[in-house]
Amino acid sequence: MKSVIPVPLPSHPYEVVVATAGIDHLGSWLAGAETPLVKPGQKLLLVSNPAIFKHYGDRALAALTQAGYTVETCLLPAGERYKTLSSIQKIYDAALGFHLERKSAMVALGGGVIGDMTGFAAATWLRGVAVVQVPTSLLAMVDASIGGKTGVNHPQGKNLIGAFHQPRLVVIDPTVLKTLPPREFRAGMAEVIKYGVIWDKDLFETLEAAPRLDQYRYLGEDLLHTILTRSCQAKAEVVSQDEKEAGLRAILNYGHTIGHAVESLMHYRGVNHGEAVAIGMVAVGKIATALNYWTAAAETRQLQLIEKAGLPTQIPAQLKAEDILALLQGDKKVEDGQVRFVIPQGLGAAVVTGDITREQMLAAL
Ligand code: GLY
Repeated sequence: MKSVIPVPLPSHPYEVVVATAGIDHLGSWLAGAETPLVKPGQKLLLVSNPAIFKHYGDRALAALTQAGYTVETCLLPAGERYKTLSSIQKIYDAALGFHLERKSAMVALGGGVIGDMTGFAAATWLRGVAVVQVPTSLLAMVDASIGGKTGVNHPQGKNLIGAFHQPRLVVIDPTVLKTLPPREFRAGMAEVIKYGVIWDKDLFETLEAAPRLDQYRYLGEDLLHTILTRSCQAKAEVVSQDEKEAGLRAILNYGHTIGHAVESLMHYRGVNHGEAVAIGMVAVGKIATALNYWTAAAETRQLQLIEKAGLPTQIPAQLKAEDILALLQGDKKVEDGQVRFVIPQGLGAAVVTGDITREQMLAAL
């Protein structure tokens, strides 16, 4: 099974390929086009983490070397706490040791942390070399690998340092999700549900019709392929209309405003990103009903889908609504002192608004 989703950015169009055993074709897809995406014979720096590399490193290396590339590997420790400038320094050191040149490329094999860091290193090494994204988590497949947001965290906040750097190619091999921990799978499903709510009602209804969504093994190849393809299409459509988030792209932050506050107040422990986004979507769903952006029935359908995916729907008991509101005032999404929320407008559409009163926010929290 193979789908190709174009990301038609005027200055640097590229494709997202969703394909069973896609990792094994990585080299031929990079090299095989009429105009190769990266010229065979060039050097590639493969960046990954030890756990992912143990599962898929050999296959990726074989696919790339068979296509004529010279490949060196840089392994970084796994986890959000290593998404730092010191890890970027390690990529630069490897690039220097390997004499990576302007026409060389970096390949990110891993989840969102590896993808964001490799993208940032590629954006800045020699003022920019090509990057290929090979995401291995559901969240990275449907979100982080597409759209060119790259970067690292600052001790004072997530993703404060970064650059836009679009990949040359994104290769999604759904079968690698079999080694993803179920909780991480569910976290990615939160972003999938997000696309259903803000952009693609058919996707939402496909998810509703699925018997289960909480574990990879319950989905089946066809359904998983559809979910990945529709989600990537949604992301590609939004990003290609608004690459640098001047307007429309902000709708991708649905559930993230409250979600980020929850993650931050929990000190990034006990609740992961997807879980926090799920909690945020439920809270904003309530605001949307109160303000007649959608119906109570739509809100219930969203809630039921989030529950079906095995995701949390309640703000952790130890957090106070007042603390969340206070933190929101310092969020990146504040403009002219107003907290800006992405609000669903029926199922399959969303708008960004700053017209939510403090009382409405408190009621939803
Ligand atoms: N993850 C949100 C975006 O790519 O804009």
